Amino acid sequence: MTNVLVAESLREFTKGQPDDVAISFFSSEIPPGDFTIIVPTVTNRVDSTAIERLPHLRLIANYGVGYDNIDVASARAREIAVTNTPGVLTAATAELTWALILAVTRRVGEGERMVRAGEWTGWRPTQLRGMSLQSKTLGIVGAGRIGREVGRRASAFGMNAVYWGRTQADGLTFVELDQLLRTSDVVSIHLSRSAETEKLIDAGKLSLMRDGSVLINTARGSIVDEEALARELASGRISAGLDVYTHEPRVPQELVSLENVVLLPHLGSATYEARQAMWDLAWSNVRAYLDDQPLITPI
Ligand code: DGY
Repeated sequence: MTNVLVAESLREFTKGQPDDVAISFFSSEIPPGDFTIIVPTVTNRVDSTAIERLPHLRLIANYGVGYDNIDVASARAREIAVTNTPGVLTAATAELTWALILAVTRRVGEGERMVRAGEWTGWRPTQLRGMSLQSKTLGIVGAGRIGREVGRRASAFGMNAVYWGRTQADGLTFVELDQLLRTSDVVSIHLSRSAETEKLIDAGKLSLMRDGSVLINTARGSIVDEEALARELASGRISAGLDVYTHEPRVPQELVSLENVVLLPHLGSATYEARQAMWDLAWSNVRAYLDDQPLITPI
């Protein structure tokens, strides 16, 4: 019998597991114990202290493609394997990115708030005019799986897509980051979080964005300097759509009080299909470990 510790928020996915595992659940802090495997979500910090508390730990099977919640170096030092869930949430996150692009450019949040507040007094030619996407440029920052999938959908809206990033993206034109920021009407971030990408989009980079352009972030909050972004948005020069924040679930009041930003609660992968597939892949890695097979998506 192998002891497996699973995040409480994943409980409904764990029904009907075979009897060779004993599953326990944890809510916020990872408790000490005799666990061989843990299955955290991207909101559970698996830092060196948590890893030290689990002397028998052999596998961290993250429920999520991003793994900035895990101290991978500490895990490696103890020869603990780490896996994530790439691929299965790509389409869901690309779709949510487009939901944000459309919501910001067509001022969906403002319109919805107006109707709900009973403030809509009728159709007017100049009411809530937004930006058409037709013939505009989409700049993709980071052309990994999700960035490329966002880019593939650009032609459906008549947009021209360019990208910057280390991964090459066939069918998209590479441009340097500063040029991308200067020339794109919509800039969408799809990088993973690392020391290199922390606050990559700082005040200087934001100032390069053209007047009236839109910044979309469905990757990780800390890739953008949130304070600098709030200042830039307050000036009214650009607008934004955000699904992620530096200190989730805290959303800075400076952002909440602005009309020209659409704010979502980290919904990128939140479809029934993707969330089930994430569990299936995380658990396939657990099974692979238990059955002494190669891990499916090791980091
Ligand atoms: C991830 O998987 O990294 C997303 O942020 C949540 O699905």
